[in-house]
Amino acid sequence: MEKKVAVLPGDGIGPEVTEAAVKVLEVIARRFNHTFHVEYGTIGGDAIDKHQNPLPDETVKLCEASDAVLLGAVGGPKWDQNPSALRPEKGLLAIRKHFDLFANLRPVKAVPSLLHASPLKEEVAKDVDMMIVRELTGGLYFGEPSRRTADAAVDSLVYTREEIERIVVKSFEIARLRRGKVASVDKANVLESSKLWREVVEEKKKAYPDVEVEHMLVDSTAMKLITNPAAFDVVVTENMFGDILSDEASVITGSLGVLPSASIRSDGFGLYEPVHGSAPEIAGLGMANPAAAILSAAMMLKYSFKMETEASAIEEAVNTVFEDGFFTADLAASGQRVLSTKEWTEKVIDELDTQFVSNSIMFSYV
Ligand code: IPM
Ligand code: MN
Repeated sequence: MEKKVAVLPGDGIGPEVTEAAVKVLEVIARRFNHTFHVEYGTIGGDAIDKHQNPLPDETVKLCEASDAVLLGAVGGPKWDQNPSALRPEKGLLAIRKHFDLFANLRPVKAVPSLLHASPLKEEVAKDVDMMIVRELTGGLYFGEPSRRTADAAVDSLVYTREEIERIVVKSFEIARLRRGKVASVDKANVLESSKLWREVVEEKKKAYPDVEVEHMLVDSTAMKLITNPAAFDVVVTENMFGDILSDEASVITGSLGVLPSASIRSDGFGLYEPVHGSAPEIAGLGMANPAAAILSAAMMLKYSFKMETEASAIEEAVNTVFEDGFFTADLAASGQRVLSTKEWTEKVIDELDTQFVSNSIMFSYV
């Protein structure tokens, strides 16, 4: 297959981790006879510095001409004092909105070899395997009016029935491919938008009798994510709740550095990025964990290109490298050898090569 990938490295550790992901994609292309045309664009602080715009038109055009987008991270202290139109985060919000990427998928899965780094007890964290489905283009992030004066400020939480319907249906579809359970999270004891959310869930679930649906309030969900995270399968929620709960859930597995995400719309186009931020304190030091970016590239293969086998090959290689005890600084236990971003990426590539060799031996027997 031939695909065009727009790579937007962004700020901080973004360039280092996307470089790692692109290297892995090159190996996949060679092994599976695909061609990935990779082109680079600017976003976030990098784009503010070069074009005085966190999402320049050139970048939008590049993404429009591509089949998928791979993004590093945006933000950093350098731009913290900027007026809101010139903040790096604006670039991310604008690209999500422009491309109507309403469904944000954030898988959180425990990896046995990383449990030592989890803040939770091993027996609580070990069976965690959930998919957070966050609505990404509505709610408080985009509602109007949104403004402030010196002594007052307003943000608006707006959702239309249609916006809720499409994300809820998406979560049911995903649940069908997993364990068939959806926790729909809201604050229906207080918010009107949540009451509408619940109503839509009740209506839409009729077409999915095989999916078990539970309504949960966001405050008790925050608690249960710590006390019994393994109970969750699919969690579907609005934009702001999803932002907060996904950061909470992300640390369960040991490191934010291993979690990928996909932001997709209905036709398969998507933007893929690590859940972690730009980590300015370690930027340029070559020590960032590239696992989340590499796994985001795997999600791109799976969700945008329907290359399931290729995506699994990457996931398996990443898991094996962890199981073999190779870690970057964020995950290494004291006394353990610490690998650089490049060294760790090489391990993944070696592992992909090993997989390929053993697969071809298997084929030669058949
Ligand atoms: C995320 C981030 C963004 C968000 C920021 C950077 C705007 O925290 O992707 O979760 O709040 O959506
Ligand atoms: Mn966030």
